[in-house]
Order: sequence, then C-alpha cells, then structure tokens
Amino acid sequence: MQIQVAERLQHTEEYYFSKKLREIEELNQSGEKVINLGIGSPDLPPHPAVIETLHEYASLPHTHAYQNYRGILPLRQAIADWYDRYYGVSLDAHKNVLPLIGSKEGIVHICMTYLAEGDEALFPNPGYPAYSAAIRLSGATGIPYNLNPENDWLPDLDALAKTDLSRVKLMWLNYPHMPTGASAKDSFFRDVVAFAKQHHILLCHDNPYSFILNEHPKSLMSVDGAMDVAIELNSLSKSANMAGWRIGMLVAAEERINEIIRFKSNMDSGMFLPLHMAAAKALSLGPQWYSELNHIYRNRRKKVYQILDALGCTYDKAQVGLFMWAKIPESYSNGYALSDKVLQQSRVFITPGGIFGSAGMGYIRVSLCAPESVLDEAYKRIS
Ligand SMILES: Cc1ncc(COP(=O)(O)O)c(C=O)c1O
Repeated sequence: MQIQVAERLQHTEEYYFSKKLREIEELNQSGEKVINLGIGSPDLPPHPAVIETLHEYASLPHTHAYQNYRGILPLRQAIADWYDRYYGVSLDAHKNVLPLIGSKEGIVHICMTYLAEGDEALFPNPGYPAYSAAIRLSGATGIPYNLNPENDWLPDLDALAKTDLSRVKLMWLNYPHMPTGASAKDSFFRDVVAFAKQHHILLCHDNPYSFILNEHPKSLMSVDGAMDVAIELNSLSKSANMAGWRIGMLVAAEERINEIIRFKSNMDSGMFLPLHMAAAKALSLGPQWYSELNHIYRNRRKKVYQILDALGCTYDKAQVGLFMWAKIPESYSNGYALSDKVLQQSRVFITPGGIFGSAGMGYIRVSLCAPESVLDEAYKRIS
C-alpha cells in the first residue's frame, strides 16, 4: 500500500540539524568523536535554585495533573515581572502573556492561527529556518526579505514598501538576529512598528538572544503602539540554559492571545507544574546571572575568533548572541564546502550559512556552546 504524506508536507523536509546529527553519529562510530560547534544548545546547567525548585515541586503529591492551558498565574506573573525589570515593558499577567513549550512551537502556532492559502508572510534571508517552514505548513506563501552587511543586516523597509504588500498578513523579525548576530537600534524598532501599522501587517518578533553577549536587552514591545501590531516570542532556552526544558513565552495584546489559544489549546496541554515553577524561579534571577553567563561566553568567543582566523574567515566583532557569523574565504565555493571539508578533515562540525537561506551561502556559523577546552581542541584539529 502506498501512503502519501499530505500536500502541506510535499515541500517540507526533515529539519537540517535533525539529519546532520544522524550523520555525525555515524561518523562517531568510525573513529575520533566529532566536535559539534553547530547547534546553539547551551552546554551549561541552569542556576541551582531552578533545579531545586523543580525537585521541590516534583516531590509534592498534587503537582502532577494537567495544567491550565494558559499557564499558571505565578509563571505568567514572573514573565510580566521579567519584562518589566529588564525591558521596561509593562504587561498584564492575566492578559498579555502566554507560556509556550519553547518558542519554536510559538512560531508554528502563530502561522497556523493567522495564515492560510493565498496569504503571504515575510521572513528574513538569512534567518531561522523555522519561520519559512511554519509559513509553508500553514499553506501560505513565504516572501523572503534579504538582509546584507551593507544594511547592517536590517530589512530595507523603503524597498519593501515599494513592493506589492497587499497579500502580506504577517512579518517575521528577529533581533538580535540569528545567524548574523546583528542587533537593531531603537529607531529601527520604531520604524518597523510604523511600517507594520501602515501596511496592516502583524509583526512577529522572535527575541531569544537578547541576554547573550548583549549589553542592552531590548523588546520590540517597548515601542509605543507595538502592542497594537506586534507579537513577541521569547525563551528560557538560551538565557537560562534551559533549552531541553522547552519553556518559551508569547507576549501580545489580549485579543492575540485569545486567538492563538484557539489553535494551541487544540494541539497541546499545559506544561508540567514543577516546570512552571522552576521557570518562574529562573526568571527571577538577578543581573548577576546574566553577567556570569556572558563572562563565560566572552572568553569562549575569543577562542572562536582563533578558529575563524585559522579558517581564513572574516567577521564583525560587534556581533551579539550565541554564535559567531563569519564570511568564508573566496577559495571556497560556499559555506557547505568549507563545513564539509572541516567535518571530514578535522572532525569538527560548523554550520554552513546556506541553511539559513541563499543570502547566507558565503558564510559559516560557529556556536559558543562548547567549553574553552573543546574550542582549543577544535582549533588544534583545524590548524
Ligand atoms: C532565532 C531562534 N528562534 C527560536 C529558537 C527556538 O528556541 P526555543 O528553544 O525556545 O524553541 C531558536 C533556537 O535555536 C532560534 O535560533
């Protein structure tokens, strides 16, 4: 019997890293273990108080039932307090906050809530591949907008305004930007909110990297009027070293949350209560948590500079976030060629920039999620 996948999956492949990890595992069977500098999965643990909170609540008898679809109030309040404390954004925990099972699921929920066949949605090239994949899954058409270093990796809103935006319902945006490490100025955030208002586009800002190697964490929601046109996703994966816990959040106007919950509540159920409580604990950590984390990443970044220099790459030291984005030397046709060579010859995996879109072809991305000793070993193997 031949079983066909649904039309919506015809152009959707397994996620690149999901395939690549299998290939790396096979290589590991046949010799020296590959050093994986590909994925932005923090290798450090969460704060001990977060683990303690998880233990404490998991050992209670009444914490194991289904939970509220909208997340329990102490977590929503902790999210609102975190936004107030670090971004200067005032949120109503009852109305403007929706905890998520990681922000990646939020990307799909948003696309499924607002997009359908015939609609268009803008997404960054290069950019996180989940945006275009989720747009495709919704049946809508994705329209990439190109980012380049000449424009500080920011979209050219004037050029976009000259295109036909009549079918565009939604725009994905992500600053600090992954993979380029670019950050956006306040004036850009103001301009993009005005652009969205003018063209009746729902802005979806994905903000998981604002605490990593970034002096001034920013939220798009701090712009006047942003709540009328924007949704922001955020995450504990990177800033609290909790990637595997799957805790993210969505911040928006009450109407948006009510619309999105119509999809989400039919797809999953509330998170485990001890996870809720531990996440609330993580959000209550003071600035010292972030400065200690960034001290470690800053030292690692120096090692990554050495690796990139050994590969003959060029890069901007003003980048923020969990990666270094670097231009490859002209002797390689593209980032895939360089990545494959380094994997085969040095058994180090670095991400080819092309997986983030055609505008990333001439680049590679190196993760800071490895201890200095591993980065030293990678440097030794490569050089
Ligand atoms: C830009 C961007 N958004 C979202 C995510 C997903 O984060 P989460 O772990 O919260 O699903 C990632 C993860 O790598 C990312 O790079």
